[in-house]
Amino acid sequence: MTNERAKFGSRFGLILATAGSAVGLGNIWRFPYMAGNNGGAAFILVYIGCVLLLGIPCMISEFIIGREGASNTARAYTKLSNGTAWKYIGFMGVLTGFLIIGYYAVVAGWCLQYIFASAAGELQGDPKYVAGYFSEFSASPVKPVLWTVAILVITHLVVIRGVRGGIEKASKMFMPTLFVLLLGLVVASCNLPGSGAGVEFLLKPDFSKVDSGVFLGALGQAFYSLSIGMGCICTYASYFSRRTNLLNTAVHISLVDTMVAVLAGLMIFPSAFSVGIAPDSGPSLIFMTLPNVFQQAFTHLPLVGYIVSIVFYVLLSLAALTSLISLHEVCTAFFLEEFRISRLRGATFVTVIACVVGALCSLSLGHTDLQLTIFGKSVFDALDFVTGQILLPFGGFLTCLFLGWYVPKKIVKDQFTNRGTLRGALFGVYLFCVRFVCPICIMLIFLNQFGVI
Ligand code: PHE
Repeated sequence: MTNERAKFGSRFGLILATAGSAVGLGNIWRFPYMAGNNGGAAFILVYIGCVLLLGIPCMISEFIIGREGASNTARAYTKLSNGTAWKYIGFMGVLTGFLIIGYYAVVAGWCLQYIFASAAGELQGDPKYVAGYFSEFSASPVKPVLWTVAILVITHLVVIRGVRGGIEKASKMFMPTLFVLLLGLVVASCNLPGSGAGVEFLLKPDFSKVDSGVFLGALGQAFYSLSIGMGCICTYASYFSRRTNLLNTAVHISLVDTMVAVLAGLMIFPSAFSVGIAPDSGPSLIFMTLPNVFQQAFTHLPLVGYIVSIVFYVLLSLAALTSLISLHEVCTAFFLEEFRISRLRGATFVTVIACVVGALCSLSLGHTDLQLTIFGKSVFDALDFVTGQILLPFGGFLTCLFLGWYVPKKIVKDQFTNRGTLRGALFGVYLFCVRFVCPICIMLIFLNQFGVI
């Protein structure tokens, strides 16, 4: 079965697909806010440092496990672990995939609703009205659930077409569209009167703001943003060709991901500052603050404001969709290979479970009689917290230890250098990062998150 394993058709397609997984809501609703509030260009430099030191080595490690294992993430870890307990890292990845899909699909569904709401002119009104619109919509029991199912069905339709005909083809369509839309919005935003203050807020370096908390926040964000720690990267790498240069690919993907995050800042802050609205982060930024920003920023050009708003939600939906596809594929590849069923069946199974998790997440935000809470948090918030703050860093931590200390160095080096055909000058640096730097840094993120340091 592994011999006939599907492969990405081209290097360009492979990079777009993997970058599609990385580029997502995290780039748009978290990064700009973190950068703006934590020292602007100084934060961006720290972030780039984290990507180089932690992101790229962790990504290469997942590439190595995926390409060497040439199977779904659970089996890839199992193969390399010779059946020892390390194999559970792979299973944990599949579980994490299901948990992230649940709440991510809910937000992606909201984006779809907002495309239609902006097109129908429903988001016009004062800030109170827009905030109320979102609170009422997200808490209602039917509509958001239907949108969650809708985005999962779209994801399903891509995944059932397979690696080349589905994932790669969709990424080749969606990612360039996303870039064009993003650039269009950046230009529109930066041309507004008074937008310079927003650019300054995002880019003016202020090193005095960079303390250890900011540093660790940047580390966590690099991790989440690059989709590391749950098998997305590992599963996609299992579709890489033997000739793919892993270091090069990781650098390219990180570059695209970071560029999109910075551009998202150049889309949000200039327009927000031009109308004097203080931007925040998370769902409230996207669904409450920005509709007002777009409306007010383009009062003299209402048609432009109308188009900008629609384009913005299309862009968000595309960013979320390509990430959802990768999450779905992690789980689909698992079912199809472990239970030896067809891709269609495996994907259907995943879609159904994802719809159930998604519906529970969505309903947990509403006023139903069901008490959908875990540890006092709504299911939605609990899944966001458990996956982003615990499971992803933990998965990355274990992966580094596994690859750095358990997997034979020869396998790691062979993969890194494509069996000696590449020079591999940086192999020593890479191995040092995976053995020491990454585990220690991730440990620090944890201790910071739980208030120990
Ligand atoms: N990287 C995605 C983002 O920035 C989130 C994600 C994490 C997607 C893990 C898949 C796996 O939004």
